[in-house]
Amino acid sequence: MKLIHDRLNQFGNPPDLGLDKRAQAQVSVFFTRPFLALHYATQIYTARVVLALALELGWESRLRKGATLEELIHDFSPQSRTVAEWMLPFLSDESLLHREGDHYFLTGEPLLDLAEIRAFAEAEAPGHGPNFDLLDAVLRQVKPFFTEGKSGEQLLFDLTIFPLWLAFFRNENLNYYPNNLLTLIALREGLPTGARVMELGGGVGSFAQLLARDGAEAGYLDRIAEYRFTDIAPTFLRKAQRDLRDKAPGLPFTFGALDINKSFEIKNLGEGLFDVIVGINVLHVAVDLQEVLRRLRALLKPGGRLVIGECMKPDLAHPIYNEFFFKFVKSFTEVDLDPELRPCSGFLTPEVWEKALLASGFKNIRQVPDIRAVMQLCPTFYVGAMTAEA
Ligand SMILES: C[S@@+](CC[C@H](N)C(=O)[O-])C[C@H]1O[C@@H](n2cnc3c(N)ncnc32)[C@H](O)[C@@H]1O
Repeated sequence: MKLIHDRLNQFGNPPDLGLDKRAQAQVSVFFTRPFLALHYATQIYTARVVLALALELGWESRLRKGATLEELIHDFSPQSRTVAEWMLPFLSDESLLHREGDHYFLTGEPLLDLAEIRAFAEAEAPGHGPNFDLLDAVLRQVKPFFTEGKSGEQLLFDLTIFPLWLAFFRNENLNYYPNNLLTLIALREGLPTGARVMELGGGVGSFAQLLARDGAEAGYLDRIAEYRFTDIAPTFLRKAQRDLRDKAPGLPFTFGALDINKSFEIKNLGEGLFDVIVGINVLHVAVDLQEVLRRLRALLKPGGRLVIGECMKPDLAHPIYNEFFFKFVKSFTEVDLDPELRPCSGFLTPEVWEKALLASGFKNIRQVPDIRAVMQLCPTFYVGAMTAEA
């Protein structure tokens, strides 16, 4: 914990990120002590949960002698490889395992105390217990993924965990809010009057709620003529239809099911082309990213914009803590790869996103704000937004 305290004490004033005054004031929350403390705590908590999982899988004796990935997974289900390939370098980056070549070693007493990190997070950024509950639930439920080959979807999206996901995707959650806030800042710039907006993967509607609130406060909400809320999951769509007119007042909603991996026709999407298509942490599940981007571009008016919010990796070679859940989920891991435009599944770097957007015909790509600059200022902060013109 001393390490976190030292890092927090080095922290200075919010930097100028080249945003307008309102946006600059809104992002200043990223440079506050509760925000940073929570991010550091989540990173360390995740690392300890991953180590506890490794021990739960019975890897301790082999790790004490030094073991390779192959030696650790050979008696587990084949799908274990994708997750173990992520776990081992993550634990070594987090200094919980020691790496020599392709061998991983556990030395000394394993650092597994979760309670001290929860207590620290509760003192610094109260009310974020459900984020840690979610990590505990993964640890509790995920062993059959390795031992019996059960699917991650089945284990991690069951009814006991669903309420924790609902608690996670909220604007009050400082771990999740930046995804929505940066995307909002990108979306509201240059929003034309009479705009038709479509959201992909709208989920529990936290982005729509933030947009309704911010748009009313700043006086741009009435520029939106239609807000088409879509998701692949019927449960989310039904919940949105039930709740959002009250929770996001003033947004002129229409609703529809949309799976980004299936071809969608404009005739099924209402009154013609869109001014803005927005998606937060959804485009990384595109199986064929180039194809999906091209299809989305075709749904935009000339000059219309795709606005994405994504978890961004500083570099593709190093795991980041917020990938942990998703490594168990096939829609995240089973996608078509391309050495230049989609070198790996899951989260990408800002540079790969730029290349992918350009290759599919988008132009005037902009990061909101400069994603690398923010990553350098906040080393545990892995989120960015981009806009791209059709
Ligand atoms: C990270 S969540 C975004 C949550 C949402 N922005 C919110 O704040 O509640 C991703 C969403 O994408 C949806 N999704 C997953 N696969 C999809 C697909 N193939 N097509 C469309 N949506 C998908 C999920 O159901 C989920 O609601």
